[in-house]
Amino acid sequence: MISEAAAWIAARTKLRPRVAVVLGSGLGGFADELMGREEFPYASIPNWPASTAVGHAGKLVLGLLGTLEAAVMSGRVHLYEGYTPAQVVFGVRVLGTLGVRAVVFTNAAGGINLAFERGALALISDHINLQGANPLAGANADALGPRFPDMTEAYSAAYRATAKQVARELGIRLGEGVYAAVLGPSYETPAEIRYLRAIGADMVGMSTAPEVIAANHMGVRCLGISCVTNMAAGILPSKINHEEVLETGAAVRGTLAKLLKALLPRLEV
Ligand code: HPA
Repeated sequence: MISEAAAWIAARTKLRPRVAVVLGSGLGGFADELMGREEFPYASIPNWPASTAVGHAGKLVLGLLGTLEAAVMSGRVHLYEGYTPAQVVFGVRVLGTLGVRAVVFTNAAGGINLAFERGALALISDHINLQGANPLAGANADALGPRFPDMTEAYSAAYRATAKQVARELGIRLGEGVYAAVLGPSYETPAEIRYLRAIGADMVGMSTAPEVIAANHMGVRCLGISCVTNMAAGILPSKINHEEVLETGAAVRGTLAKLLKALLPRLEV
């Protein structure tokens, strides 16, 4: 399954990127930064699950950032769409099989930590997987990685230090915090947000954790950047809606693209 998709892509491009980006809800702009783009709609790639979520374009884009070969997954699939954990991590596993050694995961998230404002960008220092599923459950794919992979540095400390340095150079404010991954698709209740804060979460979202688990399994190094598209439930008097999430994503994605463009060439792979 995975090797068939990887072979299909490898047969259609000469590019062999070692660095990739996964773009989250409303954050789709960065792919346009690549030169000499080669685009593969997910629906055209064998076995690749197509995204149903609004704000997810659904294509794999390969191209050049200067001289750096890069891959961009524009759109991802989520557990809440009804996909299996294996389908959710399919794209990341294909990229790893193609030779990608580092992935920057972006996502939209609700801000739990009161130090964050709507529109803030925050590095993910670690995650808490509350999705009730793990993509590695079931028989271990020994060809991909070990049965019990270590997760003590799921988000590379060196990459986080580099990201902070690049953000500083560009004058971009970049927070940092723990990302709680929930199943969704309903947003959290205020009581759930108080619970998440109590267990140490700074942001909450519905993605990223499964992909980061699968990437770590394969020895692919990860960086995570959340866009705080809204304050989490119960923090502000207003309700949360998906349009607000997309709107904030659209407002911030230029800044995010600038950060990614400067950051990718600086990640050691
Ligand atoms: N909760 C969960 N996921 C999210 C949120 C939120 O408040 N905002 C964007 N994704």
